[in-house]
Amino acid sequence: MITFVWAEDKKHQIGIDGHLPWRLPADLHHFKKITYGHPIIMGRKTFTSLPHILPGRTHVVLSTSQQLKKEFDSNKRVLIIPSISELQCWIHKHENLEICVIGGNSVFSALKKQVDCLEKTEIKATFTADVTMTKLNYSDFKIVKRSFHQPDNLNSYPYEFLTYMRKEK
Ligand SMILES: NC(=O)c1ccc[n+]([C@@H]2O[C@H](COP(=O)([O-])OP(=O)(O)OC[C@H]3O[C@@H](n4cnc5c(N)ncnc54)[C@H](OP(=O)(O)O)[C@@H]3O)[C@@H](O)[C@H]2O)c1
Repeated sequence: MITFVWAEDKKHQIGIDGHLPWRLPADLHHFKKITYGHPIIMGRKTFTSLPHILPGRTHVVLSTSQQLKKEFDSNKRVLIIPSISELQCWIHKHENLEICVIGGNSVFSALKKQVDCLEKTEIKATFTADVTMTKLNYSDFKIVKRSFHQPDNLNSYPYEFLTYMRKEK
């Protein structure tokens, strides 16, 4: 099963200058809960935006960089894959696993026809950003879970966690 995991603002924006546009600890906690124990697929820019290699997750990184490949050759927790076709082969070989795709836009866009589940965080605010989430066809999905949260001492914006499953054909 393939799950997209991401957070977006009211304008579907997801990134700025290689980072997240907001600070929302509750969403980081939610991200960890969903992805822990599963492989996480991401683009190179998302990988380099991580503060460190995340524990309990194999990082599958799409990148054409030979230097990055060399750097992580002996690291069993990071796999650098140079093309979408090789990424598709990797997904096919691991189709028994629950695979999380964590962005950015180019990777979501490449895999959107085959995603089964969407784990979206809607942040009810608008930020300055330079990366927007790829357009998804929401009519192919149904909402199976949602929870709305008001701002609190640690989280400055209202936000909602939504889970969508692809409808049966
Ligand atoms: N809000 C969220 O939930 C969320 C989630 C993820 C990311 N983000 C944010 O989004 C931004 C990064 O996203 P992004 O869309 O700009 O970049 P990205 O998808 O993370 O990475 C793009 C890179 O991936 C590699 N790549 C993409 N398609 C490829 C292909 N077909 N073949 C080989 N390599 C390919 C290339 O790496 P090389 O240049 O090395 O070849 C490309 O430069 C950051 O600001 C990040 O913080 C936000």
